[in-house]
Amino acid sequence: MPDTYILGIESSCDETAAAVVRSGEQVLSNVVYSQIATHQPYGGVVPELASREHLRAIVPVVRKALSDAGRTYQDIDAIAVTQGPGLAGALLVGISYAKALAFALEKPLIAVNHLEGHIHAVLVEERQQGNREMQFPALALVVSGGHTHLYLAQQHEETWMYENIGKTRDDAAGEAFDKVAKLLGLGYPGGPIIDKLAGHGDARAVQFPGAQIKKPNRGAREAGIYDFSFSGIKTAVLRYVQTHHMQPRIEQRRAGMAKLERLTLEDYLKHCDRETLDLVASFQRAVTDDLVNKTLAAAQEREVATLFVTGGVAANRELRQKFEARAARAGLAVFFPSLRLSTDNAAMIAAAAYPKFVARDFADEHFSAEASLALG
Ligand code: KG4
Ligand code: ZN
Repeated sequence: MPDTYILGIESSCDETAAAVVRSGEQVLSNVVYSQIATHQPYGGVVPELASREHLRAIVPVVRKALSDAGRTYQDIDAIAVTQGPGLAGALLVGISYAKALAFALEKPLIAVNHLEGHIHAVLVEERQQGNREMQFPALALVVSGGHTHLYLAQQHEETWMYENIGKTRDDAAGEAFDKVAKLLGLGYPGGPIIDKLAGHGDARAVQFPGAQIKKPNRGAREAGIYDFSFSGIKTAVLRYVQTHHMQPRIEQRRAGMAKLERLTLEDYLKHCDRETLDLVASFQRAVTDDLVNKTLAAAQEREVATLFVTGGVAANRELRQKFEARAARAGLAVFFPSLRLSTDNAAMIAAAAYPKFVARDFADEHFSAEASLALG
């Protein structure tokens, strides 16, 4: 098979992204335009604003992805685009543009599931580093602002197959990070902020009741046993704030930080009392423990030797450290994408499209966005 250059386009949430990937194994460019500044004043992603920003950014982002890769439109063999899951209006911007481009250039179009993309973020980087020795199936934890899913992933000829063995029943883990940060007056998005602050607090200061996050029942293969639930811990944090009368301090912090531009870690620390830092550290400890415990229990029960941890929350340092330590003890190999490829990007979409290109699994011109597209 000669080298294949795929242009990937991703617009499912608040990042407009384009990338060129060679044969599913080398990222030639990876351009991500983040809309964080647009949504920050609202404390979360505003769908209408996301679509508008995608419309503005998509053409320059795609052009930059091509020029960074040293390619022209004509050099591209196929165009891959995220079909879902995500915000319907946001997805449509990427899909409409990809369709127009494919039509004008007379190139095939490939529809990619965003969740499959997160799994291929790990695969493309491992291949790029020359790692072709992974054992399959791999157990992939896809953990982001919209998803907390466990998949068994393996390839049959050119087709990748996924079995979903666990999912969140309510909030995704990243959503819990974002909501807890918001209620503590720490701003948006919460994950990276909590990650930085947690190391400054005592993670054992606040004990969240075990029932807030259900523990796996080892050995039994019951339906839903590897499901997650994060709304309980979010409510427990809120209750803690109320019973410890933290609200006036939170309001003070919000007002104080609203005056500052480009907040540094020192700014956050200056505005956080010990109790807040302890609460943040204890929250992160509880969430990361739960993610690691359930994933490891599922890996043992399903007898897999390879773990993937991917999606925005996979950028979390405590989560990475815990996975590395626990996997080493259990004799499992664990792989994470680089930080650039952990959060939303289009290189993962172009990489996931490559096996579909080989199998000539192309989308027809009538395909559309699927906000709740499932995988497996
Ligand atoms: O994969 P992603 O960019 O978008 C979705 O598909 O959702 O993930 C974004 C999520 C947000 O909830 C953000 O707070 C979280 O990932 N996140 C983190 C960290 N970096 C991003 N959560 C915890 N620790 C981090 N370092
Ligand atoms: Zn994502």
